[in-house]
This record gives sequence, C-alpha cells and structure tokens, in this order.
Amino acid sequence: MSITITHPKDSPITTQIILRTRHTTYAIGILYGKFPVHLYYGGKKRSMDLTYRSNFRSFSPFYPEHGGDYLPDTALCEFPGFGYGDFRAAAIRVRDFATGSNATEFIFKKLKKHKGRLPLPAPIFGDLPCAEASEDTETLEMVLSDAVTGCELRLYYTVYPSHDIIARHMTLTNKGGSPVRLEKCMSLCLDIPRGDLELISFMGEHVRERHVSRAPVGMGVKRITSRRGASSHQANPCILLCDPKATEERGEAYGFNFVYSGSFLDELEVDQTGMTRVLVGLGDECFSWHLEVGESFTSPEAVMTYSDKGIGEVSRNFHRFIRDTILPPEPFEHRPVVLNSWEAFYFNIDGKLMEDFAAGASDVGMDMPVMDDGWFGERRHDRAGLGDWYPHPSLFPDGLKAFVERAKTKGVKFGIWIEPEMVNPDSDLYRSHPEWALAAPGRIPLESRQQLVLDMGNPAVVDYLTESFKTCFDGVPLDYFKWDMNRHLSPVYSNILPPERQGEAGFRHICGVYELFRRLRALFPNAMIETCSGGGGRYDIAMMKYSTQIWASDNTDPVSRTYIQYGSTFGYPTAVMSCHVANHGGSIEDPRKLNYGFRVALNGPLGYELNILGASETAKATMSAQIKEYRAYEHLILRGDFYRLLDPFVCGHYAYYFASSDSRELLLTYLQNAGDPKETVYRLRVSRALKGVTYRDTITGNTYTGEELKRGIEVKSSTEGLYAVMWHLVAE
Ligand code: DGJ
Repeated sequence: MSITITHPKDSPITTQIILRTRHTTYAIGILYGKFPVHLYYGGKKRSMDLTYRSNFRSFSPFYPEHGGDYLPDTALCEFPGFGYGDFRAAAIRVRDFATGSNATEFIFKKLKKHKGRLPLPAPIFGDLPCAEASEDTETLEMVLSDAVTGCELRLYYTVYPSHDIIARHMTLTNKGGSPVRLEKCMSLCLDIPRGDLELISFMGEHVRERHVSRAPVGMGVKRITSRRGASSHQANPCILLCDPKATEERGEAYGFNFVYSGSFLDELEVDQTGMTRVLVGLGDECFSWHLEVGESFTSPEAVMTYSDKGIGEVSRNFHRFIRDTILPPEPFEHRPVVLNSWEAFYFNIDGKLMEDFAAGASDVGMDMPVMDDGWFGERRHDRAGLGDWYPHPSLFPDGLKAFVERAKTKGVKFGIWIEPEMVNPDSDLYRSHPEWALAAPGRIPLESRQQLVLDMGNPAVVDYLTESFKTCFDGVPLDYFKWDMNRHLSPVYSNILPPERQGEAGFRHICGVYELFRRLRALFPNAMIETCSGGGGRYDIAMMKYSTQIWASDNTDPVSRTYIQYGSTFGYPTAVMSCHVANHGGSIEDPRKLNYGFRVALNGPLGYELNILGASETAKATMSAQIKEYRAYEHLILRGDFYRLLDPFVCGHYAYYFASSDSRELLLTYLQNAGDPKETVYRLRVSRALKGVTYRDTITGNTYTGEELKRGIEVKSSTEGLYAVMWHLVAE
C-alpha cells in the first residue's frame, strides 16, 4: 500500500495522508479540516510528528478563528493559491471575470484513491504524454474548492513506489457562474523547511546545451524558465536541489522535472522563515487558459524524487523511471548504429550519392544510413521547401520507394530527416496557407533560419501534415525518422483563436505536436523516431515518450561533448543520448582523435556523422572495430546503472561507470580533454564492485578484486590531451 489515509484524534491535523515509495515518505495534513498543509518529504519515516507549530510573523494576515496558529503566508502549503494571505510564489492564479478579483482560497473537500494512474486529458487531440503505470502504481486525488469563484481544483499524486518517484498534476474546473481565466498553472509545489539548499540547473545555448551550474538558491525568488515555446537549449526543465555538502554518493538531494516540451517555469523561493518553495509548471508569462462555465483544464505532469544517498542516486531514480515508464518499446533487437549524412554533405545530396553512402555504411558494419535535410520540395538550401513534403523529383527519378528499396539492398536499414512543425515562406505550403504560420496581427513575421512555425494547435495543419507524410512515405520501407525542429516560437499567436484565448496558443501548439507524433508512429509502427531540435534543444521527458533517442547537440566536437553529455546525465538516461563520432577537420584520419571521438561517444547509443566515402581504408577498419567493441558494451550503455565520478566542469576530466544490475559487469571510462603537465593521479572508486569477487578487464586482461575497485583504480592523467582509458570489468 503506497497511500494511507488516517484521521488522527486530538490534533489540528484532522486527516493525514502518507505516500510511500521504496526509500521515501511524503506526508500531507489537512489542517482544521480545511487547509492542505505539507508535513514531510524525505527519507523513509515510520511515524509523523503531528504537532502543528505556529510560525507567526508580523505583516502576515491570518484567519481570526485560528489566530497566529495558522498563517497562509508562513505555513508549508501543498498547493498555494494567489492573493489570499500567502505572499510567496503561488502554484495557481485564477482571475474571476464576474468580479475581476484574482484571490482564491482552495479549501479541502474530499480524497479518493485509485489503483494505477489516470490519463491527462488535453483540451485538443489526445491525452498529454505521461508515464505508464507500473504494477504497484497508485494515485491520490485530492479535491479542493474555492467558494467564491466556484472553481474546483483536483490535485493528483501518482506514486511509483519501486522507482521512488511521485508524479503530480492538477485539473481546474470552472463550476461557478461566470468565466474565469487560469493565469498561472503549476503542476507541483513542494515547501521544504530549510533555506540553505543548493540548486543544480542545466542552462546553455545552441551547441552548448545542459551545462551544469550549482549555487545556493539564496533568499528571494529564482526562476529557471523557457519562454521559447520549446523546452530549449537555453534552459532545461530538470532541476536538482541538494544539501550544500551533498556529493554524488552522499547527502540529501531532490530532483524535479516536467513532462512537457513547451515553455515552462521552475520557480524557487526562499522566504522570510527560511523555507524553500519549489514550483514546477507552465508559469505565468507564456500561458493562460480561458474557462467557460463547466470547462476544465488539466496541467502536464511534473515528477519529483528524493534520495539521502547523494545526487547520483537522484539521477539513477530518474534514469530507471524514464527507461521503465516513459520510453517507447525498443523497435529493433539492437539499437542501429546510425551514419548520418548532415555533416558529410549538408544539402548536397541525391539518390545516387545516398545509395553509395548506404553501401559505404554497410561495408564498415554501420546499420543505418540516414538521409538528413535536403531531399524534399525545393530544399536545396535552408531558404526554401519546408512544408512541401514530397521527394525532389530530380534527386530521386524513380521515386522515394524505389530509392529506399535499392539503398536497403546494401544490407542496411534506412532513415530519413523531417522537420514537420516548420514552413519556409518560400514554399508552396506558405504560399497557399500563410495563415497557418504563427504570426501576430499587424506585425511582420520574424524569421529564424529563414523559417516560420506552423500553428500546430490548428487541427487543419496537423491533418495536412499527416496526409503529406502518409502520401510521401506510402509503402516506403523506412526504419527511422529524425524529427528536427530548428527555431523557437515568437510571437505566439494563432489565427484560429479569439483574443481571450491567445494565451492558450503555445500549449495548444504542443498538443498538436504530440498528436502528430502519435499519428506518425501509428502510420509507420516499424520505424523508430529520433528527435532533435538544432541538436539538443528539446531534450525533455515528453519527447522521450515518442522518441527512442535524442540528438544531444549539434556540437560534435568530442571535447565540448564531454560537458554536454555529463550535464545530460543528471536528469536523463544515457539510453536516449544519441552520440556520434564526427570528422572535425579530417580528425578521423588521426588515430588518436578517432579513438577519442569514439570513447567520448560510448556514453550513449553510437552513431557516425561523416563522409564514409571519403574515409581511408585505415579509418574504415578502425570504425569497423569500434562498432564491434560498442556491441560488447551496448547492454550496459543502454540499460546499466550510471555513476558519475569526475566532473569535467571542475577538473576538466570526465569519468563515469556503468554497472549491470547484478554488479558483475562494469564499464569504467576516463576521458581527458586537455593535456595535464602535472600528471595528476585520480582514484576512480567503483562503489558497485562486489566484495570477494575478482573482475577481469577484457581490454587489458588485468584482474582486480572487488575491494580494490571499491578503493579505486588509479589513473594518471596524460601530458597530452584527448586521452581516454576504459576498463570493461567482468566478474570471474
Ligand atoms: C539541425 C540538426 O541538429 C542537424 O543535425 C541537421 O539535421 C540540420 N538541422 C539539418 O537542417
């Protein structure tokens, strides 16, 4: 039983709700039968102290009947509303059209328990993406109501006991007599009774995604947000909070993430009492929702986890959860090793060249050539063609089907690039439907990469794209789509919505994106999808629901990649992190560089991004050997437990290891970007090694005892950069 509800006697807490996961406890109290207050989130607890301590502060309003015993402004709240005694950041703000007021007071009404989980209905198209229920999943539904607006608020807590995850969302229903507007909508609020936590966030930019920063939250408000209509390169919805002393293996840490791909807000506030409020949701700048009488809005889902065993354990909780409950089923027995055409040829591709490329891939044992951008409409450069989804006739004289069939006779799978959400003004689609692009009335549409964004919240657009892809790929034996997205949304204005609903355009857009994913998957069930947004600009849990892997960055320089990959592992499993070996300035002809590129790429599913036709026989032989080596580790990279050891942001070197679930197989990697004249000695501690067991390194043949591995393998840094050492340790 992961959810228990009790009614304590002789306590101001009239109802107590406890959510239990394998290693955590979460407790909610209903104070005086009315106010949902937060009691506890942390390591497993048997009993709860139900004394409710007053936290009186002057200048904080209170209810006359409860005096200084309960102040909305200083209490630990479950889901605070706006404008009624709590001056801190709110989880929900609702504007009542009858009075113009934005004050609400959501009072507890009732509780319900559900076996499994409930879907998240979207206002248009199907349900919002969320985790699948595991066998032991249970959901708590808490109903609250605001007497003046008549709004009903339902809070959902879905407990994944074996994953140590609690997923949360809310539904607001207008049960009053006049329309209201939901102006701020968060999915999760957590009040933590301490103010000294540190925030780990993953900000960046294009080609520098998910760079790790760790700093005290500090007093006041901090917002990690994307206003770009995409989760973005610049911010990422995943955040961690931890004890200032927490390390990878020790100390308290919390993790939060949002199952959503559009604009988001992670808001943190340390208040006058020294507590930290954490909010995760849609925020108040890029979202509002108009609710007529009787209408409801359901938020996307936010997820949280906790561990007192360090930051690494929080990451592993997220990894397991995403692998087990989010990712689509593996489409093939082995993840195909991709050979992508982009950095090889950019737009200069044609059918004949791609057939040769397929043959080249096959020769070295790569599984799947991918024809990237440039194959459709008038797309011979990035100024034209997006939106016109038919193969360019002169590139494929006998059509796409015959071409792909021929390419596959080389003994490979075949993949293709698409960018469904976009349109070039120079396209037949834009010429016939300029109103389908997002653009604000009276303003010149702002281009980015010579393209505009289609209004995916318009069902006609989603239908057009569905039909286009259905026709274009009819009978074409494709195994993979690379779904790209190369600009952000600004301005966000939909031509099919009335003025009072324009705040909905960004959310509706994302619902349309998810719908097209579902339709594409239904039309081509045998093909896997890799998502991409100018590299890693949409690296979020919701994308992972539809795509088996994500292109982590357009930056394929191995040195830069160590930082991006390290940062990406905090919130996301390595199984999704598509890693390619590229040919920077002829680097594949330099054995040291080719080796380093490969060792760096062994952090996720392997691929190559280069002109195989121009590679020397020596480079090709090396790549063949690399692929065989990758296959020996693949099961660990895709499904092993992941441990970070050295932080490249701190020491310039990246080290980590994977462990099989029984700890009898370990893959340890040390990556050194720059030369180190000091020849520093690092001790790489493999905590998962088993005592009393001898491990043989299949690379060198050396043996190590589990005790030795636990104490740490010593590695001396090299005076030369681009230095990598790996150990593949198998129990004897
Ligand atoms: C951006 C992607 O990240 C690249 O890999 C490539 O697909 C280009 N778009 C194509 O336009």
